[in-house]
Parts: sequence; structure tokens; C-alpha cells
Amino acid sequence: MARLLSSQACHEALTQSSPPQGEFLLSFYSSVLNGITTDPVYMTLPIDDHMVHRGHAVFDTCNLIEGKVYGLSFHLDRFLRSARDARIPHFASKDELANIILHTVAATNRRSGVGIRYWMSAGRGDFSIHTSNLKHSNFYVACHVVNESLRERSAEVGVSEVIVRHIPLKSRELATLKSNNYLINALTAMAAKDLGGTLGIQLDPAGNLAECSIGSVSIVTASGVLKTPKLDLILRGTTLLRAHALFLSKEATTTLPITDFVFCDITPAEALSDQVVEMIEFGGAHVTPIVQLDGKKIGTGQPGPVFKAFHTLLKKDMLNAVEFLDNVPYASSKL
Ligand SMILES: Cc1ncc(COP(=O)(O)O)c(C=O)c1O
Repeated sequence: MARLLSSQACHEALTQSSPPQGEFLLSFYSSVLNGITTDPVYMTLPIDDHMVHRGHAVFDTCNLIEGKVYGLSFHLDRFLRSARDARIPHFASKDELANIILHTVAATNRRSGVGIRYWMSAGRGDFSIHTSNLKHSNFYVACHVVNESLRERSAEVGVSEVIVRHIPLKSRELATLKSNNYLINALTAMAAKDLGGTLGIQLDPAGNLAECSIGSVSIVTASGVLKTPKLDLILRGTTLLRAHALFLSKEATTTLPITDFVFCDITPAEALSDQVVEMIEFGGAHVTPIVQLDGKKIGTGQPGPVFKAFHTLLKKDMLNAVEFLDNVPYASSKL
């Protein structure tokens, strides 16, 4: 039977059911708490937040590498565009949000192996579909442990992928902004696993390749052209756009074994043809080689030279591109 609990009993139950401190959840900022905690017991959301009961929130990420945060500025630009499109008025400026994120990272006291995610919700109020009774938007940041060896293993051996044909792509309104409404993406990833794939690649309404459940997808042809779907119906992947910028930069022209990088339609038949020598997924500042599609070997069935070149270039970018790196205020983050 469901018992009526005292505040003390609630606290004890939450303490018992939370993961141990530092095991997975490392630090959390919440505008509801108006501060940062490292205690997983308090890393919770109010049930009356529009993010919880209407999926009315947007989110984004960035990376921690050797004690610096990479990509915060361009991720926050997309985050604020998503918030605008989701009609969530934000209470803080881009700089203030960046500052909160950097202090939440500092509270982990770690220099690598940390995932950084943040959300802006329409806010708390009643359970109405309308937002007129919501008090103000809320901002949450969560830093957590990431298993970097899993990612390295995928880069070494590649992954198998499948086209998930039976789950329709989200509408343009939902797919082009990064809302926390990822049910379709989660179903795509689950279907991909069922079919022997990894993340799953979706098709657009015209039947062309669209995107992976949490990444951008591309093919490389035998003539050295990297092709990737146009971005009008899908998320503008920051990793893909950074790779494109690197392709256009002078430094990369000598190290990248491609002649062109184009945004165009790609049919499943083309992706599955012998003209395709490599397939690459871009996401979260990383690249992953896709070595098998729908059971067919891509190229040699091994991570190829274009993947390897982007892997090296993006790693270098994360370490050296000072315009995309922010210092973490570790010293200021003590209780
Ligand atoms: C649906 C979708 N497409 C593409 C991407 C790649 O975006 P990014 O390179 O900015 O991580 C993601 C990443 O979260 C995603 O969820």
C-alpha cells in the first residue's frame, strides 16, 4: 500500500534510492535550488515543471577535456536558438548561463571523463498546457561520469548500423531544435539494437537518409566526396559543422583525404552501393566509423582514412582551438 510519508521519511527514501555520491552523478545546478549540489539526493526535478509533464524544455551539451570546457559558446548559441523556437524566455544571459555551467563542472573536481548536459524548461506552475501561469523558466545542469573507453573502442573497430525505416522522423519543428522530447529518438535507438545496429539511422519523409538517433550521418564516395544530408529537417550538428569548417580551413586541406564536403540528398540505395567506401557518424565532438550498414560491409569493413583524419583533427581542435576553450574555475568551487 502507498503510505503517507513525513518529510523525514521522504528524505530517507530518497537517500536510499539515490546512486552513491560520485558513482555516476557528479554535480548538479538547479535554478529551483538556486545553487549547485554534489549530493545525488537533491538532483531532482519538480513534477510541476513543464519539462516533466509536457516535455517543454530544450537541452544541449559540451565537453570537458584536460580541465577545459570545449565548445560551450557554440553549444549555447544552439541552446538559446532552441529556447527561442520553443518559446522559453530565459532569465539569464549567455554569459551568465556559461558561468553557471563552468562552476557546476568545477564542482566535479575532475578534469576529464565528465559528461555535461544542461536544460532550460518553460518552468513550474500548474499542470496546464498553457504557460501563462508558469512563474519563470528553469535552468538545470548535470555533470556525470562518461565511459571514454567505450567511445575509444568504437573508434578502433567501428560500429554496425541499420536504417530504421518504420519509425517516422520527428517533424521539422521538433527535429531542428534540441528539445528534450527524445521519445522518437529513443524508440529509433531501441529498434536499431533489435535489428543489430547501434544508434539507428532515420529517413526523411522523401525516403532519404536523415540523421542517427543522437548524431549526424555521412558517407564518403570512392571519388573522395563526403556527402551528408541537408540540415533543413534535422538538427544542426555542431560536430558536423565543425568538421565542415575544418575541411574549409587551410590547415586541413593537406590532411583530409576528401575532395569535397557536400550537403545533399542520399538515398538508402546510394548508401548501400559499392560506391560508398566509408560511413561516418558525427556527434558530441566525436566521430565514429560505421563499418557495416544493414548487414552490408562498408568499404573494407574497417575504420577508413577519412574517419581517421577527422578523428585526429577534431581531437586537436578540442585541445588547441583556444577560441572554443573555457577555463574551469576549480579553485572557486569549494563548500
Ligand atoms: C538528433 C541528433 N542529431 C545530431 C546530433 C549531433 O549533434 P552534435 O554534433 O552537436 O552533438 C545529436 C546530438 O545530440 C542529436 O541528438
